[in-house]
Amino acid sequence: MQHTTQVALVRELLGHLDAGTTALAENVMRNRVDVYTDRDRLEREWSMIRRTPQYFGLSCRLPEPGSYATDDETGVPVLLARDHDGRFRSFLNVCRHRGSRVASGQGSGRTKFACPYHGWTYDCHGRLVGVPGRESFAGVDLSVRNLVELPAREYGGMLWSALDPSIPLEPDPFLAGLGSELASYGFENYVHYARSTLVRRMNWKMVIDTFLESYHFAVLHPHTVHPIFFPNLSLFEPFGPHLREVFARRTITELRGCPKADWNLVTHTVIIYVLFPSTVLVMQGDHAEIWRVFPDANRPDSSVIHLDFYTPEPAETDSARGHWDRNLELVLRTVEDEDFPTGEGIQSGFRANAQTEVVYGRNEPALQHWQRTVTEELANRTDSP
Ligand code: FES
Ligand SMILES: [Fe+2]
Repeated sequence: MQHTTQVALVRELLGHLDAGTTALAENVMRNRVDVYTDRDRLEREWSMIRRTPQYFGLSCRLPEPGSYATDDETGVPVLLARDHDGRFRSFLNVCRHRGSRVASGQGSGRTKFACPYHGWTYDCHGRLVGVPGRESFAGVDLSVRNLVELPAREYGGMLWSALDPSIPLEPDPFLAGLGSELASYGFENYVHYARSTLVRRMNWKMVIDTFLESYHFAVLHPHTVHPIFFPNLSLFEPFGPHLREVFARRTITELRGCPKADWNLVTHTVIIYVLFPSTVLVMQGDHAEIWRVFPDANRPDSSVIHLDFYTPEPAETDSARGHWDRNLELVLRTVEDEDFPTGEGIQSGFRANAQTEVVYGRNEPALQHWQRTVTEELANRTDSP
């Protein structure tokens, strides 16, 4: 993030601290409970997710030419690969003979992908280069039976791909002004430290709601988050469908006595980006936590959540590993013992039909933007009923 932006945001936070205020939305927002419970809406949300370019990991997921990884989280089987020129490519993981997956898991050193069913073989550009018993396919134009390649871009150390060849993917318009800010973090040098996958009985949007206000810090997190962060204090800025919000660590008051040239926003805050529709990037001062959140395929009250924990350099000492383990343990304890049980309780309450709407306060502007954007995107989709 540019230093001038950091200074401006620190100023805003300190101003809110002095005044006892926070960023406010223009109005209170009401949202229907059935956005969290309706099965038809779930179908349309899945369609929206699949028609929106997806974040698939930081560059370290494909560390070298010949690296590959498969990904089925969106319900679309995708094969991510780094070709011999080092270029990131993305394909539908679907053999052009009869549709088997051509690869599974992840690995390195692959120059070809041989389908495990009958052995059709593709190179790392997706070209069909081997067909056992080729003479049996006389009359079939095998030259058009390459793997279906998807639009893919590596940008600022982040891997992005659409899930359909017809969906355009240019990072600058897609990221709506956030591209250079994300690129400034140097994610191309980050390494993967740990992954945690959680399945919870709550709507996928409620998982993301969890990240979008600090109003609950003092009440729900008195011993985990509240000692570290000021409650009910946030900054919010929309970037098209995406957003950035900032929560202040209590250490931010130390900046009052420092020259502005030394003000470092990242050290004294947590900066949260929702990269629409379902990625939450949490910049935690000295590391990054990136959440990919998906609905269950069939149930609006269930979701699959992946947390990837990245560090700016490899953890090579016990001391470094201990530091990252404590950070990881704190975030998992907070969400697993506090945020997500609360969300599951809310979801149960929705089933009881106690009310038809929930209300988002003016002090929850990021939450309002996120929920409003999902609803607007669904309304804008021509494939929506
Ligand atoms: S389905 Fe792949 S070779 Fe037959
Ligand atoms: Fe929380």
